[in-house]
Amino acid sequence: MTLDHFPHAFHPGDPSKPTILLFHGTGGDEHDLIRFGQAVAPGQTLLSPRGRVDEAGLNRWFRRHEEGVFDLEDLKFRTNELAQWLHLARVEYSLLDQPLYALGYSNGANILANLLLQGFEHLQKAAMIRPMFTDQRAPGITLPSPKTLLLVGQHDTICPPDSAEKLAEELTSKGAVVQMVRVAAGHELTQADLAEISNFLALSPGLDENQPSH
Ligand code: MLT
Repeated sequence: MTLDHFPHAFHPGDPSKPTILLFHGTGGDEHDLIRFGQAVAPGQTLLSPRGRVDEAGLNRWFRRHEEGVFDLEDLKFRTNELAQWLHLARVEYSLLDQPLYALGYSNGANILANLLLQGFEHLQKAAMIRPMFTDQRAPGITLPSPKTLLLVGQHDTICPPDSAEKLAEELTSKGAVVQMVRVAAGHELTQADLAEISNFLALSPGLDENQPSH
């Protein structure tokens, strides 16, 4: 595998601060979340790959049979493929000494959740915006307790709140520290998401645990 296996955007930043991985939603690309990343983590290194699955011209991270019905075999394969590339990219860009945070939106939130559940253990913080439970039964991998934030749209009909609740339970059962926040929104990204993630990323890991879910 080479660095160009995943087309990607790389914005080098302050080497003394965490690298932020960005995972776009269905139909997005490596540029979609760059401005969002710059807003929530100004001056920090951003690494944003493009999903390699093509669904009728739309970029995705893994295949689905229909809306909300996922190809779990492809999800497992794509998660491992991405994990392998992330390690390669961190070596190539000399990022191994920087803590690693990540944020994903929708389909990007779901590949991020599955990276954690399939044991990608290099993430210290992961923010999932409008995530879903994918019913992927990870083989009992115990995570090294990453701090996770799930941002749920109160009126989201694509990634409904009860699916995010199931994901929160699954992540918690695997040892993640889970904070779930419901925002007054549908599936769209909002200023509230930006504010919540800015706070989540800024807090030192030790302080996060006292943050109430709300
Ligand atoms: C999507 O359309 O991207 C869904 O919201 C989530 C997914 O398919 O992973």
